[in-house]
Amino acid sequence: MTKGPEGFEQFYSEMYGERWPRLKEALLAPKKHVAVANPFSKFKFSEAPLHVTGVSFEHDVRESFPQPEKTEEGYMNYYLMDAASILPVEALDLQPGEKMVDLCAAPGGKSFLCALKLKNQGLLVSNDRSAARRARIHRIFDDYLPKSEQKNHTVTGHDATKWSLYQKSIYDKVLLDAPCSSERHVLEDSKELAIWAPGRTKAIAISQFAMLASALDIVKVGGTIVYSTCALSQLENDDIIRKLYQKRPGRFELIRKEFSFGEPTEFGWQVLPDNTGWGPFYLAVVKRTK
Ligand SMILES: C[S@@+](CC[C@H](N)C(=O)[O-])C[C@H]1O[C@@H](n2cnc3c(N)ncnc32)[C@H](O)[C@@H]1O
Repeated sequence: MTKGPEGFEQFYSEMYGERWPRLKEALLAPKKHVAVANPFSKFKFSEAPLHVTGVSFEHDVRESFPQPEKTEEGYMNYYLMDAASILPVEALDLQPGEKMVDLCAAPGGKSFLCALKLKNQGLLVSNDRSAARRARIHRIFDDYLPKSEQKNHTVTGHDATKWSLYQKSIYDKVLLDAPCSSERHVLEDSKELAIWAPGRTKAIAISQFAMLASALDIVKVGGTIVYSTCALSQLENDDIIRKLYQKRPGRFELIRKEFSFGEPTEFGWQVLPDNTGWGPFYLAVVKRTK
């Protein structure tokens, strides 16, 4: 198959069919933002928040926001993200006191939201293999949360594909926000687009599956894994869950979730910018049964 921009075009137009031209146009459009208020900053939105995304955090949606800054409490006022990135945290349905690991956590936006849900009870492990990116997790936690609110939080640097060699059946919840093809960034970057090749998404999918298989071993029986990516390629989304059915039959069941924006897929939920202005984002919820 062709590489570079032409190969990219061919690959994704075959995958998305007649939807591809408007999806591509939406991917190239400026991004909207959601600001999730930091309760420790006591920040209040000056105008009434729109709350259009239906998520449970206090938040607002605008075309753009000023960069976050510290309030007089000494903590950042809000965290800016894509609204779709909040959905995996909602899907985890975290309860204070639960033990969770965020296997690919840096820079740390989703871990921060998990910390708000856990309320400093139980255990929150934020893991990332990259040391430079782990430093960003520490910075976000220190910028957003008092030290006294981080007692249940620890940062580790393991390879998520191998985690189950060391720990098994430990966590109530596992978030696997996997490294992925990030096609939106590829489209925006001519150098990345020039070196794009179809083998790339296949190679990434192999390591994503290894991480998910590991996650299935480290979550407790009855516990939940949320698998998510910002990929468009189905090889990295529903196909990973399909492979889990093939390789780990009888060990899990799928939990179907619905959200106020996005659309169901065969195994999960996808948010695409042509319909919603958010994403791309994919998630699937897996409950370990054996
Ligand atoms: C999509 S980003 C995670 C974004 C993060 N969850 C957030 O919301 O801020 C994927 C992360 O996975 C990390 N990563 C890549 N391969 C890994 C591996 N084998 N084990 C652990 N982390 C890995 C990368 O360093 C990167 O920070």
